[in-house]
Amino acid sequence: MIITMVGVGLARLIKKREYLQHKRILKWIKDQIQANGLHMQDNVLRKGINPRTRAQQLQDLIEFKGISHYEGQSDNHTALPCPGELLVEGHHSNYGEPWAGGRDVFEFLAESSHLTPNSRVLEIGCGTLRVGLHFIRYLIPEHFHCLERDELSLMAAFRYELPSQGLLHKRPLIVRGEDMDFSKFGSGVVYDLIYASAVFLHMPDKLVWVGLERLVSKLKPYDGRIFVSHNIKFCSRLGGEECTKRLASLGLEYSTKHTHDSLLFNHYEIWFEFRRSKA
Ligand SMILES: C[S@@+](CC[C@H](N)C(=O)[O-])C[C@H]1O[C@@H](n2cnc3c(N)ncnc32)[C@H](O)[C@@H]1O
Repeated sequence: MIITMVGVGLARLIKKREYLQHKRILKWIKDQIQANGLHMQDNVLRKGINPRTRAQQLQDLIEFKGISHYEGQSDNHTALPCPGELLVEGHHSNYGEPWAGGRDVFEFLAESSHLTPNSRVLEIGCGTLRVGLHFIRYLIPEHFHCLERDELSLMAAFRYELPSQGLLHKRPLIVRGEDMDFSKFGSGVVYDLIYASAVFLHMPDKLVWVGLERLVSKLKPYDGRIFVSHNIKFCSRLGGEECTKRLASLGLEYSTKHTHDSLLFNHYEIWFEFRRSKA
């Protein structure tokens, strides 16, 4: 009992310290902006600055403006020839949400799941690695896994994001697939964190349940966590009690709902947390 109280007290203290640190960091960045007299200005043409849309950038690339290129395919001896659409980062706008929000998602999930560099993480539907990049950077090699169905997104991940972020050496295991088939990730692997960021809401409920059933044995007992963003309609559409029963039949239980505020911009996200049930 006393040990539990000490534990709770310590956790509160750590939370408070993190909160204060967070506040200090925010103050620092606000001070830097003020000290430099920075204001949001219209991004217009001025000396040395050439604001362009992605489409204009792509056209400039095609016309070889401002960049030195080897001309002709036979001279293109680069190891990872990269399509122009990726070079102008068109894929950063594929999913509507600000690309920068990936950092917020990482920080929230890492903190909530007590992530360490040794942890093993599986993302369902990692897209163009908006969030995944931050996990890949933090985790030791081969500890980030992902199942993703979209070929263009995977091309963006392999051809542009991993090389440009210097993360190829982390060798994430990213598998193309859409049937919630996890057989290519190995039978013995157990994850500390499994998450789906803006994915389950786009999937048929039936497929989500198939996935959950297959994932239970891959979730570390009992510290491992599954996090699902936005909503859990696959669950609520069944009705609260029915959903709880269905989760229990798989060996899962709903743990809690989180609201996470962004550090970067006026935005928050809702996350639902699940874990393996002990019974
Ligand atoms: C809105 S995007 C989110 C991408 C990424 N999680 C993020 O937060 O930036 C949804 C992603 O889920 C993927 N997806 C949808 N259904 C899928 C399925 N059945 N299997 C694997 N990936 C799927 C899509 O291809 C897309 O990359």
